[in-house]
Amino acid sequence: MRPLLTRSTHPIFQRETQTVVAVRPTLSTLAPAKINLCLEVLGRRDDGYHEIDTLMVPLAWGDSLAIRPRDDDALHLHVDWRALDMPTPRLAAEDNLVIRALEKIRPAGAGADVWLIKRVPPEAGLGGGSSDAAAALRLGNRLWNLRLSDARLKVLAAELGSDVPFFLEESAARATGRGERLQVVDGLGSLHLVIVKPPQGLSTAEVFRHADLGGRAPKLESVIDRLQRGDVTAAGGLLANTLQSAAETLCDAVGRTCYELRRSGGVGHLMTGSGSACFVLCRNQQEARGIAGRARSLRLGQVWTTRSVA
Ligand code: C5P
Repeated sequence: MRPLLTRSTHPIFQRETQTVVAVRPTLSTLAPAKINLCLEVLGRRDDGYHEIDTLMVPLAWGDSLAIRPRDDDALHLHVDWRALDMPTPRLAAEDNLVIRALEKIRPAGAGADVWLIKRVPPEAGLGGGSSDAAAALRLGNRLWNLRLSDARLKVLAAELGSDVPFFLEESAARATGRGERLQVVDGLGSLHLVIVKPPQGLSTAEVFRHADLGGRAPKLESVIDRLQRGDVTAAGGLLANTLQSAAETLCDAVGRTCYELRRSGGVGHLMTGSGSACFVLCRNQQEARGIAGRARSLRLGQVWTTRSVA
């Protein structure tokens, strides 16, 4: 049956759902956003992707996903976009990574209602759609008692997108290949961050097409070393993303946002992933709040304060 995409309020927060839960369990999870503390594009590959070397950290802030089995074989996705300061995107359900993830694993005849609360903006470099897909694989695996191994889930995740396997790790990681080869990195600490998403978004494919392949090599290992020593200030000075110049060429707001954030304080300022969101690495929560307040008063876009998950 063709999946439906509807916009609705989130029934798991409504009282009558309590009764339903007793009969058919609802599974739910946070689908965290990520930032790239370093990203280097090493070269173009024959398959159209780019070889990268990047350090990614998951955040304590993200989308919420809930899933409940149905009696029929329909997959119904209900998306709540109200937390985002943007028009609701017109999106075919088949294109949504959550539906594509569930279609990959659902047994014949199984159906589900899925609720997605979007807080992480699309076209931002924050991994929102990829994280939703990873969360759907994890929840679907439990809901339908499939017992798919971590290795199998990672293969399916990589088919859905380069960033999706990272969100199955649930920890900071260095990612190579097209982003799907992961090495977990421990001990980075929980970092105080301000995230700013300009109103304009950027297409990942478009930014990679304009990537500067001769860019300055980010000092990824040095960033890991400084963070593991607890020297956030030194790490902040080493953050680098070789996709940023391409993104600034495609979207003026990226350069302007980073410029204003640099003037606002903090120890590191960078675009995340392929943009257009930028972030500030801060010494503490108080500094993060001050920078977020200034970013809001300058109307740079939507602003969040959060922390990385160590
Ligand atoms: O893997 P994903 O579907 O998220 O990638 C979206 C697009 O971004 C790809 O089609 C490709 O054009 C570009 N990309 C790339 N190199 C990567 C990751 C993504 O060129 N390592």
